Amino acid sequence: MTEIKLGIAGLGTVAQGVLELIRRNNALMRQRSGVSLRVVRVASRRAKPEIDLQGAHFSTDIEDLLTDPNVDMILELIGGDTTALDLIRRGLAANKPVVTANKAILAAHGNELMAGRGRQLLRFEAAVAGAIPIIQGLSGGLAANRLGGLFGIINGTCNYIFGEMEANGTAFDEVLAEAQRLGYAEADPSFDIDGIDAAHKLTILLALGFTGSFDLSAVFVEGIRHVTVADIRFAQELGFKIKHLGIIQNTDAGVEARVHCALVPGDALLANVNGVMNAVQINSDGAGETLFSGPGAGGEATASAVLSDVLALGALMASGNGIGVPSESDQSSERLSDQPALVSMSDVSCANYLRIPTVDQPGVFAQVTQALSEFSISIDAAIQHEASSNQSAVDIVLLTDDVVEGTMNAALERLQRLDIVAADIVRLRVAPTL
Ligand code: HSE
Repeated sequence: MTEIKLGIAGLGTVAQGVLELIRRNNALMRQRSGVSLRVVRVASRRAKPEIDLQGAHFSTDIEDLLTDPNVDMILELIGGDTTALDLIRRGLAANKPVVTANKAILAAHGNELMAGRGRQLLRFEAAVAGAIPIIQGLSGGLAANRLGGLFGIINGTCNYIFGEMEANGTAFDEVLAEAQRLGYAEADPSFDIDGIDAAHKLTILLALGFTGSFDLSAVFVEGIRHVTVADIRFAQELGFKIKHLGIIQNTDAGVEARVHCALVPGDALLANVNGVMNAVQINSDGAGETLFSGPGAGGEATASAVLSDVLALGALMASGNGIGVPSESDQSSERLSDQPALVSMSDVSCANYLRIPTVDQPGVFAQVTQALSEFSISIDAAIQHEASSNQSAVDIVLLTDDVVEGTMNAALERLQRLDIVAADIVRLRVAPTL
């Protein structure tokens, strides 16, 4: 039985989840994988907390993980960028297997880190969608398939916020504060609500399943700040739910990669993924439609994904499979040989939901439809309720047919300038057929 000695960087929620799962399930893991885990060193800048470190040495110097010859594998669970990136780079350079949950670092430095030894030594199942084995799913389970599209709820905080707004009519700011209190949101919650966290995750999925290259700039990003309870209610009236989605589509023109709010038909599988749960639907030529779903955040849920990497690497080490010994073929990062073109967002075509706050006077609806017809945009559905006595503006809600993004943006600029438009127009895209 091979024992793998772990060095853990960080002692936050995920690291504590790792310690707890090892304490509870080490015998089970040993039975399944043939390796036994022992935590020999924990390093965290915070003072030693009152938790059971299972006999591991504790220090406040992350450097100790690199210099201790007893550490077989490094778990980077500190988050952030500079220190974490330095630790990963130096661990790999020292030929040590490294497991990380750091999506921001992979999105920004994935090409560098996965080149050479990194391809063999670096694992990051926990970086995308918490407990869901989506990295294994894409690069292992579905590896034989050509992928047509991927649609994911990959930020639990946004999903939780929309769920609470829908269920209780609670305002956005109030629900966000609750998400922070519950520990779902990132340290800087703008990463969640401005779509950056989802873009990091989608960049990883894009690289693994579609392009072979980590390129954050290829992903169009929009957050959720502009969505109100009124939009959620109007969307319901039209038969949709609003979700914040990561979307990758393989089209004839190339690959589209985008993160934004989307109207999803109320009976679609993704429409019914609630709370902090994540889900990723993948359409592929061989396997057809597959759906992965589970908790997208949380200590033990994320730790489960971290430990799946630890066990996979540990099993390779135990098999004497040459892990840590670079061969000629793993010196360069292999990209997909027929790397597809990326479609610019301005060329993406989709239907749109528009909520146009207008002054309450005759002829307003005609002016709006006239402006849209100047851009050849057809309307698929419309809602206009009577203004209540205390309302100064009345919403016109429209659902357009498919329109190219560039044209829709030009039409929105034109609409926003009309004198009868009383406040900012809310535009949300309709999800492609899932
Ligand atoms: N803040 C992230 C989320 C945590 O809400 O999904 C998991 O990456």
